[in-house]
Amino acid sequence: MRPITIALTKGRLARKTLELFRSIGIDPAGADDPDTRKLIFENEELGLRFFLAKGPDVPTYVHYGAADIGIVGRDTIIEEGKKLYEVLDLGYGRCRMCVCGPESARKYLENGEMIRVATKYPNITRDYFMNKKHQTVEIIKLNGSIELAPIVGLAELIVDIVETGSTLKENGLKVLEEVLPLSARVVVNQVSMKMENERISDLIRRMKEAL
Ligand code: PRP
Repeated sequence: MRPITIALTKGRLARKTLELFRSIGIDPAGADDPDTRKLIFENEELGLRFFLAKGPDVPTYVHYGAADIGIVGRDTIIEEGKKLYEVLDLGYGRCRMCVCGPESARKYLENGEMIRVATKYPNITRDYFMNKKHQTVEIIKLNGSIELAPIVGLAELIVDIVETGSTLKENGLKVLEEVLPLSARVVVNQVSMKMENERISDLIRRMKEAL
């Protein structure tokens, strides 16, 4: 039997998802061992394979069919813009994509000025400012610690993920506008969904029941 391959986003989402699999009697074959350097894990008995990847790579693996199923944040799915079936909201990994900055930068949103916006999510940011706000901005792509940008004067505002809000608070920044609500999602390759419909649907149904 061809295994169904599942791509998990490394880190907290993978840990939560592997717990979910365990709760429905699916042994992830060592993928939840925090000390392992192995990249791929197979439960031959159940015909399942798991691997861990960086978030933005998960939609890529699923789009090309190298993974049948992916577990990834909604932010990453939208940012990567790949054609995939999004079949289940797992409800965890809940957070918000927001426009943030110091209170003094609120004026830039009110009078639609040409400003710089730093983000890890240039596509989401472009879509929000162009299509929702009709405001022209310069987008600066960063890869982490986005909150630094307005503090050191790289950008007036940022678009970033806010979960507890403590990173913003500790750096004197605020949520100024909400862009999108986010959570972890299950995505499926479009061909796999047809070819392996029964096994994939059964797995999704069991995950859904356990939530
Ligand atoms: C994320 C995000 C914020 C922070 C939000 O960063 O980019 O910086 O978490 O969480 P909070 O609202 O609970 O404080 P992450 O820790 O993933 O690291 P990064 O800055 O390197 O992207």
